[in-house]
Amino acid sequence: MRPFIVANWKMHGLKADMNEVKAIDSAAAKFDHIDVGIGLPATLIHLAAQNAGHAQIGAQDCHQAQQGAHTGCLSAAMLSEAGASFSIVGHSERRADQAETSRLIAQKARSLQNASMGAILCIGEDLATRQSGTALDFVAGQLVESLALADDTSLSPERLTIAYEPIWAIGTGHVPELTDIAAMHSKLRSQLVSSFGPAGDAIRILYGGSVKASNAKDILALKNVNGALVGGASLKAESFVPIIAAA
Ligand code: 13P
Repeated sequence: MRPFIVANWKMHGLKADMNEVKAIDSAAAKFDHIDVGIGLPATLIHLAAQNAGHAQIGAQDCHQAQQGAHTGCLSAAMLSEAGASFSIVGHSERRADQAETSRLIAQKARSLQNASMGAILCIGEDLATRQSGTALDFVAGQLVESLALADDTSLSPERLTIAYEPIWAIGTGHVPELTDIAAMHSKLRSQLVSSFGPAGDAIRILYGGSVKASNAKDILALKNVNGALVGGASLKAESFVPIIAAA
């Protein structure tokens, strides 16, 4: 399976940062056995797509509807036309700040799939859930809920990527024990196979949460860890490219 290393720039980035996009794109050309993605603020997608030939340019959210009276929102077709080939959906920051539910996130992912775009669907537990010892079942349940569409159908396994991001590891410098990451990814793999059959084996499961050059190699070597979703360390090519190299 080709590793997928994805930058999530969150609410960072202006035109002046295009040099970072270009440097990341050059690394994507060099490490051509790896898929590299850059999840950008929507304002930069068009420009970045013009400047990148190797890295996939993506968004960080997408509305679930194709069009309509939704002030301030962007549809999958709009993001695609701007040059995005994927979007992150269901990041824990949006689940918290915008009160997004797993059901809504499934609809967003479906809307991306319908536009022939990739969806990187995020799940992960908070610290209290981790400390209570119920993280494996909680996150597997969140995955099931985030795959389910209202009409009793499920998302397609095509163009779907899962990102496991423990909330307590995001931006904190705390990373789970390697054995805990491996246990979670193995649980998620089993769940994907039970949801999709053999197609579940081909879905990439990324790890996210305080990934840096110094820990990337060990994390990416774990079974069922098929890439990384990187926040802070992805803003500069200097700190992101070594993570690509570690894969
Ligand atoms: P950090 O890499 O800054 O911990 O962020 C992870 C993340 O939220 C990526 O989506």
